[in-house]
Amino acid sequence: MSVKGKVVVITGAGGGLGQATAVRFANEGAKLVLVDLSDQPMERTVSLVKEITQDVHTVEANVTNSNDVQNYVKEAVDTFGFIDVFYNNAGIEGSVTPTTQYDEDEFDKVMAVNTRGVFLGLKYVLQQMQKQKSGSIINTASVAGISTQENLSAYTASKHSVVGLTRATAVENAKLNIRVNAICPGPIDTVMVRHAAEKFNPVNPEEFYDLVKGMVPANRLGKPEEVASLIAYLGGDESGFINGAMIAIDGGMTTTYS
Ligand SMILES: NC(=O)c1ccc[n+]([C@@H]2O[C@H](COP(=O)([O-])OP(=O)(O)OC[C@H]3O[C@@H](n4cnc5c(N)ncnc54)[C@H](O)[C@@H]3O)[C@@H](O)[C@H]2O)c1
Repeated sequence: MSVKGKVVVITGAGGGLGQATAVRFANEGAKLVLVDLSDQPMERTVSLVKEITQDVHTVEANVTNSNDVQNYVKEAVDTFGFIDVFYNNAGIEGSVTPTTQYDEDEFDKVMAVNTRGVFLGLKYVLQQMQKQKSGSIINTASVAGISTQENLSAYTASKHSVVGLTRATAVENAKLNIRVNAICPGPIDTVMVRHAAEKFNPVNPEEFYDLVKGMVPANRLGKPEEVASLIAYLGGDESGFINGAMIAIDGGMTTTYS
C-alpha cells in the first residue's frame, strides 16, 4: 500500500475517528505519532495499535497551545525524522443552543480547539513539510463546514473556518508537493455523537439517533472505519491530484434539502 513506512501524525488520537484511523494506518505499515490531551484517552488506541506495530510514539498536547503543538511536531521529527501525513483531527462539539443563548466562554473554547488548534497544526506541520517538499494533510471539518443545523452556531462557524484554512493552505503549498484536503463527515458513531445525543435529549438520547438517521438518506450513522478508509486514501500517493478538496462522507446528507 502507498502509506507503508510513512510517518503519520494524528491529533485527537484517543477519539473515535482518531482511533480508527490509527488502526487503519498501522495495518498498512505506517509509523504513528499519536497526539491527545493526555495519555488516558489514548490508552485504548495505543493498545490496539501495539497489537499491530511497535512503531508508535505518543505525545500529550493541548492543540490550542502553540508550545504543545510545536512540541508534537518536534517529537515526531526527532522520533521518525519526517512527517508524511498529518491528520489534523482533534475537535469538540460545544453545546446545542441558539446563538442568542450561547455561552460566550464556550464559544471561545469551541473556536480555540476547532479553529485555532487546526491553524496551529497547519502552521507548524507545514513548516516541516516545506523543508521536506512533500506531505499530505487531512483536516477534519464536518457537514457543518458546508451546511448547518439549528442551534449549532459555534460548531458551524468553527468547521466553516476549517474549510477556509484548508483552501488557503492548499493554494499556498501546492507547488511544494504538499496537499491539504478536508473531510466533511456526517454523523459517525463515536463518543462525540453520543455526547450530542445526551445534550439534545438527556431523558431519551435514542430519540436523537432516530432524528439524525432520518436526516441521512442512507438511514444510518457512518462507521469510524469508513472515515479511516478515506483518510488512508487521502494520505497516500494514489490521491496525488486531490488538493484543496472538501470531501463529504455523510451517506448523502448534504445532497438533500433539510
Ligand atoms: N463523530 C462525528 O459524527 C463527527 C462528524 C463530523 C465531524 N467530526 C469531527 O471529527 C473529529 C473527531 O471527532 P470524534 O467523533 O472522533 O470525537 P471524539 O470526541 O471521539 O474524539 C475527539 C478527541 O479529541 C481530543 N481533544 C479534544 N480537545 C483537544 C485538545 N484541546 N487538544 C488535544 N486533543 C483534544 C479528545 O480528547 C478526543 O480524544 C472532530 O474534529 C469532530 O468535530 C465528528
